[in-house]
Amino acid sequence: MQSLQNKKILLGISGGIASYKTATLARRLIDVGAEVRVVMTSGAQAFITPLTLQALTGNPVHTDLLDPAAEAAMGHIELARWADIIVIAPASANLMARLVNGFADDLLTTLCLATDVPILIAPAMNRLMWSNAATQDNAKTLTARGYTLLGPDEGAQACGETGAGRMLEPEDIRDRVVQFATNNGVTPISKHAGSPMPTPSEHNPAANQPSAFAEHHKSLAGLHIVITAGPTVEPIDPVRYITNRSSGKMGFALATAAVKQQAKVTLIAGPVSLSTPPGVTRIDVDTAKSMHAAALNAVHGADVFISVAAVADYRVEQVAQEKIKKNDNAMTLTLVRNPDILASIAAMPERPFCVGFAAETEHVEKYARGKLTKKKLDLIAANHVGQPDNPVFGSDTNSLEVFWPTDGHQHIPAAPKKQVAAQLLDIIAERLPTS
Ligand code: PMT
Repeated sequence: MQSLQNKKILLGISGGIASYKTATLARRLIDVGAEVRVVMTSGAQAFITPLTLQALTGNPVHTDLLDPAAEAAMGHIELARWADIIVIAPASANLMARLVNGFADDLLTTLCLATDVPILIAPAMNRLMWSNAATQDNAKTLTARGYTLLGPDEGAQACGETGAGRMLEPEDIRDRVVQFATNNGVTPISKHAGSPMPTPSEHNPAANQPSAFAEHHKSLAGLHIVITAGPTVEPIDPVRYITNRSSGKMGFALATAAVKQQAKVTLIAGPVSLSTPPGVTRIDVDTAKSMHAAALNAVHGADVFISVAAVADYRVEQVAQEKIKKNDNAMTLTLVRNPDILASIAAMPERPFCVGFAAETEHVEKYARGKLTKKKLDLIAANHVGQPDNPVFGSDTNSLEVFWPTDGHQHIPAAPKKQVAAQLLDIIAERLPTS
């Protein structure tokens, strides 16, 4: 596990039933080396006591904007400057609205105005509150201003309903914070610990380094992402076909993760037995030719194309109209090449950012880089398939070697496909051209 060693995390808690999970989150952040200080809104204190968080973090919990005792020790400006990262979990609909409007009527909102460090928020609310246009607009505005949204998740809610709006589990939030800090070069500022009033640039050196710090502004929010997933099937006759072992899990995990990152997602799926992730527009296809047609149609105006599907390279030249009878001991099928969907989209004059997958059983880097170059891709994610301990096809976990032109490479370690998907999307977001 990558670490948050020496990172100072200011953990904001707003009012909501999910705030009881934040006690666990505080512990999980400390487990990976972070120093955690907690700020609670008055709403949060209705659900969980400051004493609990104080005992768990070993630091005083901050609740009041105008607290003479706190001002003497660590006032709001100093507290804002102390942090390397602010994480707000849960972030209620009310808190998001107040952040959008620049309120400074309590300690947490004031801190968010008085800081230049990254702010990550984990929304948690009833599904209708989350899907309400006001909250959705607020989420987009915050993302556009550089906030990073973690979740929400979907599933059973405390109110008895089911849908999107659950706070991510504490371990998921911790992993996303670790990943964010790693990807964005968030710099610990412990060397300033003795300095009473560091200047903003002293406070966070990363703030003066666009290449390291500006990256947290890169986001998939509002972008249109087209993803292909699953196998294709190529008929031989009315009852037989050629296909492969792709289950669609990797592509569906990417679609789910992209929706969580506020992208608009079109998922073109071969025949799989997976349900459509909430918020995704799904187009079902069967053959490579039908997937090709659907993809060409969907990518017009799209920002990113991710080709996860295991597309059959060949189809049967003459599909028999009637069931073929077994008259001979041997039979020959003539196969002809299918169109290369990814290569044809990457060759379009107005093309989206093109991401390929490479399923390799050997020489993973050599073959993946070959496809990256030959198909003129922006990025390729290679998986080592067919290993006895993890065939990748059909399994719930994966690991990826991600390559891009000019020798770029990043390893995504073995993890559930949904986690791998979120990490791949972060790499894609980082590599998207800024326009
Ligand atoms: O679905 P799962 O069970 O979760 O398994 C996931 C997966 C193994 C299918 C996935 O992670 C993966 O590796 N997908 C790509 C599989 C593949 O077909 O790789 P390839 O090396 O043959 O193709 C290279 C790239 O070109 C791929 O992005 C592929 O989608 C694309 N391609 C290939 C042939 C073709 N005719 N058209 C294409 O677009």
